[in-house]
Amino acid sequence: MKRPYKKRSTPEGEHRPVLIQEVLEVLNPAEGGIFVDCTLGMAGHSRAILERVGPTGQLIACDLDLENLTRAKEKLEQVGNPFHLHHGNFAGFPTPMGELGIAAVDGLLADLGMSSMQVDDPDRGFSHMREGPLDMRMDRERGKTAADLINTMTVEEMTEYFSKVGDEPDAEIIAKTIAKVRKGLPITTTRQLSLIIRTVAPKTINYSPLPKQPTERQQRIRPVARVFQTLRILVNRELANLQELLRVIPWCLKPGGKIAIISFHSGEDRLVKASFRDGKRLGIYSETSKKPIRPQFQERIENPRSRSAKMRWAVRSEG
Ligand SMILES: C[S@@+](CC[C@H](N)C(=O)[O-])C[C@H]1O[C@@H](n2cnc3c(N)ncnc32)[C@H](O)[C@@H]1O
Repeated sequence: MKRPYKKRSTPEGEHRPVLIQEVLEVLNPAEGGIFVDCTLGMAGHSRAILERVGPTGQLIACDLDLENLTRAKEKLEQVGNPFHLHHGNFAGFPTPMGELGIAAVDGLLADLGMSSMQVDDPDRGFSHMREGPLDMRMDRERGKTAADLINTMTVEEMTEYFSKVGDEPDAEIIAKTIAKVRKGLPITTTRQLSLIIRTVAPKTINYSPLPKQPTERQQRIRPVARVFQTLRILVNRELANLQELLRVIPWCLKPGGKIAIISFHSGEDRLVKASFRDGKRLGIYSETSKKPIRPQFQERIENPRSRSAKMRWAVRSEG
């Protein structure tokens, strides 16, 4: 039975596209344009782009998650304009472009992270709030699961990743406790891991009555969320994939073509910022966003998952 969703949270079975108006303003998809959506998800952004490029335009969209592709295909078919779907890693998106005989596109979007459908499905193991197997693979056909990693990484590796990727202040004590617990019994479920982290972190709870102070529950949940996010990033090699995408993008954009990237993690945002800054310095990009674009108050209220979103954009130089 489906659990009722909390008030103000994304309803189960839905994914609300983040910063949709802002994406359309930046990419400005016009009739006849060719666009790439690197992260199709539930086709929220893809559908809006496809509607705008019309019957003479094209959309190429990819996703690592085969289940997402199947569901998204139905939504895109309703639009009636041409599109091509690719099951694979966006780091290799020039391959489907080449297969279609497309050398360069007018715009490209990457909306990083995971879709609400993935989070909501307990079998995928992405959410620490839903009991399920510790899987976290976006492509369930390949790669190591989060359970494989958490049961084999050394204390030093875990400490480094939880601290550097997850910004977790109690990284070491969490890593040591995980190593101790798994000696007796391998960690295989989201609830097991969540309970282990909760027993040790945070070491100090701040009971300040100030209105902006996170509640005790929030303080206890944050380390869990940070460790889960770190594991997901490691399992799916998210930072390496983003680096490769940023390396190849400029060579797949037409002069004047635009790229927009939405990230939900400070490490990802730093990579995007640095790549666009360097690209501008080298004359690859003529213009880049000065500051990240954040969701408006209304969107943050209606879709709490949008809260940490940051979008940056760049324009391929004409030369
Ligand atoms: C935030 S969701 C995208 C949601 C989408 N924009 C929408 O409006 O429905 C991110 C999607 O990207 C996919 N994804 C993440 N990393 C990927 C990668 N390296 N290559 C291809 N798809 C990836 C995930 O499986 C997920 O479906």
